[in-house]
Amino acid sequence: MTTTYSTFAKKVQDTPSVREPAYRPAMWLSEKEKADLATKIGDADLYQDLFTMREMVREAPDNIELKKALVSGIASAEFAGIDAFSRKVVEWQDWPVPNTLIMAMARQTWDEVRHAWLAKGLVESYGGEIGDYPDTLAGGGPPPGVAPQGPLQQGFGAQAEELLREPVVSLSMTNVSLEGGALILFQETSAVAEKIGDKLMAHCYDYNWADEVTHTAIGDYFVKALTEDNPMEEKKALRVHALAESFRTRLSGQQSDELKEFFAEEMSRATDALG
Ligand SMILES: [Fe+2]
Ligand SMILES: [Fe+2]
Repeated sequence: MTTTYSTFAKKVQDTPSVREPAYRPAMWLSEKEKADLATKIGDADLYQDLFTMREMVREAPDNIELKKALVSGIASAEFAGIDAFSRKVVEWQDWPVPNTLIMAMARQTWDEVRHAWLAKGLVESYGGEIGDYPDTLAGGGPPPGVAPQGPLQQGFGAQAEELLREPVVSLSMTNVSLEGGALILFQETSAVAEKIGDKLMAHCYDYNWADEVTHTAIGDYFVKALTEDNPMEEKKALRVHALAESFRTRLSGQQSDELKEFFAEEMSRATDALG
């Protein structure tokens, strides 16, 4: 499925993501920045794995630096959420979707703003600030001269980007799978915080968790509504969900073949529809 975008939506698509302080994606750190990160948390490679970071906080509850790192990593996803959902509010007005879905994306944008505020306050309560740690999930593409990473970007660059703009694909990937994962992360992080006696952290992630319940429900509800009389779209939504789940674990060779097959099929279908 494709659509024709308005001048406004195109302008938004062509406008890069910015934040103050500027995004600093963990994926593109310099050797010096990696060394700094390793000095703070012991091993720079662990930083992007929030579940492991959370376990490290549980095991060393007095290590304030680990708490700053965990909350900064989560905060980065909240800023990425504000950026992503606010873009959908604009772009999806050009797709054949109900107005209530646009309203749901607007509501979600504000929820992510509150989450970013909570994370900012929590980091500051530990004596840190946003920007002390790199971003786990934000900031766009690589610097000039660096090849993109990740299973999607490597093999399917522009195709993947186009497909991910479709509301059904995006809802299955982000709201159902990614936010379903966030729901579990927040629930468990709140429980860990409770256990180590960090009342503020427990309270913040309890609040986030409650919102993720709504965000996941938005995904379930609208994927169903948008695919109701369209078995092909429903099949696509289910496959995207399965693929997104596999990204969260390590990609095996077989999963990577499934991914290639999926894109090949979707692209030939899109070409047929256009032709
Ligand atoms: Fe959030
Ligand atoms: Fe969310």
